[in-house]
This record gives sequence, C-alpha cells and structure tokens, in this order.
Amino acid sequence: MGFWDDVERHMVRYSGAGRFTPEVIVRAEGSYLFSESGRRILDFTSGQMSAILGHSHPDIVATLRRQAATLDHLFSGMLSHPVVDLARRLAESLPDPLEKVLLLTTGAEANEAAIRMAKLVTGKHEVVSFARSWHGMTQAAANATYSSGRKGYGPAVPGNFAIPVPFGADGELDWQRQLDLSFDLVDAQSVGALAACIVEPILSSGGVIDLPLGYLAALRDKCHERGMLLILDEAQTALCRTGTWYAFERDGVVPDILTVSKTLGAGLPLAAVVTSTEIEETAHERGYLFFTTHVSDPLVAAVGNTVLDVLERDKLDLRAAESGAFLKDGLRELASRHETVTDVRGRGLLVGLELTSDELGAAVTRKCLELGLHMNVVQLPGMGGVFRIAPPLTATRQELAEGLDILDRALASVS
Ligand SMILES: Cc1ncc(COP(=O)(O)O)c(C=O)c1O
Repeated sequence: MGFWDDVERHMVRYSGAGRFTPEVIVRAEGSYLFSESGRRILDFTSGQMSAILGHSHPDIVATLRRQAATLDHLFSGMLSHPVVDLARRLAESLPDPLEKVLLLTTGAEANEAAIRMAKLVTGKHEVVSFARSWHGMTQAAANATYSSGRKGYGPAVPGNFAIPVPFGADGELDWQRQLDLSFDLVDAQSVGALAACIVEPILSSGGVIDLPLGYLAALRDKCHERGMLLILDEAQTALCRTGTWYAFERDGVVPDILTVSKTLGAGLPLAAVVTSTEIEETAHERGYLFFTTHVSDPLVAAVGNTVLDVLERDKLDLRAAESGAFLKDGLRELASRHETVTDVRGRGLLVGLELTSDELGAAVTRKCLELGLHMNVVQLPGMGGVFRIAPPLTATRQELAEGLDILDRALASVS
C-alpha cells in the first residue's frame, strides 16, 4: 500500500472542507520544505504560522538536543530553571503590570486558561469576541470562535456574544459608532455577568484585518466600564511577527491577560498566559486550577528561551518590519498588474492579499504549490479569498523575491 492509500484508509480528515496538501514533506530547513518527490517548496506560512525562525534553526536544534538529553519533562507541580527563566524573560519583554506567567502548550489551551481565569476572577461567565474570530478548538476557545466550526457540535456555551469586526474601506467605517452599537447589543443580551472580551489585535483567520488605530483603546474602555477583562490573543502576532515585539504596542494598550502561543515555540508546542500580579493573586485566592500534563515542561521552555535569544540577537523585530515593507511593496506592484488582486494589507510579515473570489484563491494556491510556493488562503463570506502570507522572520530578500515571482506567475496563469 502506498502513502496516499494509507491516508485514505487511516487518517481522520480534520480540516473541515479542506483537503490535505498533496505533497509528502520529508525534510524542512530554513524557509524551504523538501518533498519526497524531490521538490523544494518555499514556506510562506511558517508551517502553521508558527516557525518564525524557519525550520530546523541550528540554535533550536542545539537546544533541543541538549535539553532532551538533560531534563525533558516533569511532574506538573515541579518547576525548573528553563521554565522560571522563560517566565521572567517574557515578563521583562512586556509592559507593567504583566508579570505573572503560566506556560502551556497550544493556543487554544492558553485561551482556555485565560478565559477560565477571567471567569474565576470576575465571578462572571459571559464572553465577547469578534464575529470572525479564531481562538482555538477547545471548549471556551471554540465558543469564542465565530469564523468557522460552530455548526453541528451541540449547544454553545451560554453567554458568548459576537461583535462585528471593524473592517471597511478606508474612511468609510465609523468604527466608534459600530463599537457603541455592538456594546448596546451586548448589554441588552447580557444577564449581568460579563467576564471578558477576547480578541486578536490582527484577525488572521478572519482575513488579515488590522484593527483601526484607537479601536483597541476604545474596546479596553468598554470592557473596563463593565468590569470585564480584556484578553488579547497574540497567537500569530506576538514576538516580532508584525515588526514590534507585540502587536498591541502600536496601540499603547496593555491587556489584562495576554496569550501567546504559535510563535513562542517557533514550531514546537509552547504557549503562555501572562497577567498582572493582582489578577493572579485573586485567581489563586479562589483556587485557580489549570493542571495539565505539559504545564511548565522544561523541554519546550528551553526552546522558548532560545527563541527569545535569537529574536533579540538578530533584531528580528526590525527585520520583520523591513522585510514586511519589501514584501508589501512587491505585492502592491503585483496588485497594480493583476486585476484579480483587490487589496494588500497587514503589518510587518503578516500580510493579507485579497482576491476577487475564493475559487480564484484556491486555484492560485494550487498553481503556487506546483511552482514551488506554499500559500494559505482563507475563505470567508462577503470577502474574496484572502492569502495569509507569513514567511519566517528569517526569510531573506531573495527568498521573498522568489515567492513574489512565483505568485506573479501563478496569478497570470490562473486569471
Ligand atoms: C489567533 C489564534 N488564536 C488561537 C489559535 C489556536 O491555536 P492552536 O491551534 O495552537 O490551539 C490560533 C490558531 O490558528 C490562532 O490563529
């Protein structure tokens, strides 16, 4: 039996309507994937938006070798140096009062822990999030997720409310009025138990939508007026991806709880919840429980420390800003020649390229893969297909230019 026969026979199809990528990847290095058939494919999604240092970064490989051979995993109540070092270093990279850290494994898990903490600390249970959000597949995270996957899984958790994403053509959207009306609706529906609002500073699965400047501060005020905590989910945007260490820095807004995940492990399963001493204190007094098998695991915490080392040493925040500007210029140039491209947006190296239709997006994705470029397109009602372009922060100019060239050819051949 061949590989694809085994896939057909044994693999659960877990991606909704999506299919498995028709390539078998046997090796990955830097910005490239290498297939069994001998093809070299440029990875413009950093794996699943996680491998910010590219694949098999030598420093990460060295840390994994060393740490796996010395201290891999412990009883969940035991702490170790890599864990406490990472907690301190994350706190040092963040503004006050964010200084208490919980180290976990995935984005959904971190959001689960954050929402659970917000409920315990406020003594309430209602949660507000964007109508195009993606916060993960576990219960509280999935119930705050509206971009897909809501149908067919039984009753939703009571007290989850969606608000519209502030997105519209430049200058056309009165987002303050939209936000006011959104909270009028939330207030009307609430049973008086609003606990938290969880949002991404740039909606990624929602179509790479950056929040208008000022929105996050206004949202924080709406939350605090109601005694709600603001949770920022920086799964994709934290740790230099958008040209700053954290996306929220642009807005000068500090969340009550921050979650980071994908980019922290740079390809390995590591996530963190960060909050203030005050919130942690109240949570602890009330018996906060989030005891998992892989909480505070030394192996991936050591990787997290190395990720921070490389980001700092190689100034990858600046590099992401510069590479992002180069990439966006190139994409705007493509947009000027291809009528099928309707928008280029995003921040740093998280860039969205919108096409006129989602069928076109799927066809361009296929053609890119054929030509040696892996791209991911999101398909959302009311929007064409949107490519989420997020190469590793370590990608070179030459690699970015190669990706632009392939995309150019794919757009030309498909339209
Ligand atoms: C913003 C955001 N939050 C949470 C998640 C969930 O992370 P994970 O798949 O690691 O559980 C994702 C994953 O795509 C995400 O993009």
